[in-house]
Amino acid sequence: MGSVITDWDSAYNWVRNSLQRGEKFLVEVGMGAGEFLFWVAENSSFNPVGSDIKKKRVQKAIKRLSLLDRNSAILLGDGKRVVRDLFPSGSISKIVINYPDPWPKKHQRWRRISFPFFVDLIADRLEVGGVLHLSTDHLPLLEEFYAALMARSCFLPIPSKPQSNIFRGMITRYETQWILEERDLYQWSFLKKKGICKNP
Ligand SMILES: C[S@@+](CC[C@H](N)C(=O)[O-])C[C@H]1O[C@@H](n2cnc3c(N)ncnc32)[C@H](O)[C@@H]1O
Repeated sequence: MGSVITDWDSAYNWVRNSLQRGEKFLVEVGMGAGEFLFWVAENSSFNPVGSDIKKKRVQKAIKRLSLLDRNSAILLGDGKRVVRDLFPSGSISKIVINYPDPWPKKHQRWRRISFPFFVDLIADRLEVGGVLHLSTDHLPLLEEFYAALMARSCFLPIPSKPQSNIFRGMITRYETQWILEERDLYQWSFLKKKGICKNP
């Protein structure tokens, strides 16, 4: 029977021990109630790690993932902290961000996924050949994030048509809502290339 790790110390130890055994990780930032992470756990060999800042969503995700016969870590807190504190440099195979909050106001800029601190973290913690997957309904956020990643010169952008990203294979809760509202959706993957990421 698998277990869902929900405290930071145990998650740190599990990640480090699993990496030593050569296991691969997928980290989802802002997982909501964990529908996508559940799908990943059922359909891939990646060790799933997810976080959200909303307690009720995290509780739902824990309940969902606990049905599975494999280990996972579900943490209440900032996904940036998960990436920063649990993983060494070049150790994450996939980082997934599905429909992040856009934080459009100027004073919220530091919360956006495009904020340099987070972009540098992604560039550092992804392994070479690792991929960041982003889905969003917010074009300005995509443009800002895209520009920030390209400025590091170590990412290859790969677009996918809305609703056809075979990696994702399922439609998240928010995505369902945006489809019903007929919003334009954008899905991009960014492959981490060999070489040093620039600090712009
Ligand atoms: C629009 S919802 C998308 C939820 C889910 N990914 C989906 O596609 O259905 C954005 C989620 O990100 C979470 N969130 C916002 N900032 C976060 C952060 N810094 N770290 C982790 N989760 C965050 C929110 O609580 C919310 O559940």
